[in-house]
Amino acid sequence: MWFTGLSGSGKSTLAMALERRLFSEGYEVFVLDGDNLRHGLNSNLGFSPEDREENIRRVGEVAAMFANSGFVVLTAFISPYRADREMARQVIGQGYYEVFLNPGLAACEDRDPKGLYKKARAGEILQFTGVSAPYEEPEQPDVDLDTATRTVEDCVEVLIDRANLAFRLAD
Ligand SMILES: Nc1ncnc2c1ncn2[C@@H]1O[C@H](COP(=O)(O)OP(=O)(O)OP(=O)(O)O)[C@@H](O)[C@H]1O
Ligand SMILES: [Mg+2]
Repeated sequence: MWFTGLSGSGKSTLAMALERRLFSEGYEVFVLDGDNLRHGLNSNLGFSPEDREENIRRVGEVAAMFANSGFVVLTAFISPYRADREMARQVIGQGYYEVFLNPGLAACEDRDPKGLYKKARAGEILQFTGVSAPYEEPEQPDVDLDTATRTVEDCVEVLIDRANLAFRLAD
């Protein structure tokens, strides 16, 4: 399950909540989160278009490896470029499932859980997605979730239903 959306749209929150839920239903689950990977595997990458592409390329490869060994993989990256998500879809194959978290920029900026929008507006962070760098919305996501009008629990219910269906179909 490939989560995509602006900073603050809820990728990490929902990936973690869904991980717990899937785990309790007996699935082997693995979460790849930009918040962690950028400190480790991808610590040599910045936020230029080239580095964002390489960031997502590596994530797609690692996700495919885990998925091939039987894990349900949840990825939580802004992944702002359509072409990069398409590359991940190619590498991951049939099981790729795109979840667009779409509360709108205003809601994300209102939440600003890490204070990053404030810094971006003040010019302290450059190339910030949604403010000074583009976010290319998915054209045909498998799920489009407005996380501003739904609770975390509601969103998990929607996702678990879709996930169970998708996994049954893939069996
Ligand atoms: N329905 C919802 N789904 C997800 N998060 C929600 C929802 N409603 C409110 N929130 C809140 O929105 C915030 C989302 O922040 P989160 O860190 O998950 O975003 P993110 O997409 O991972 O951002 P980043 O790209 O910066 O890592 C959290 O504070 C969360 O509690
Ligand atoms: Mg996050």
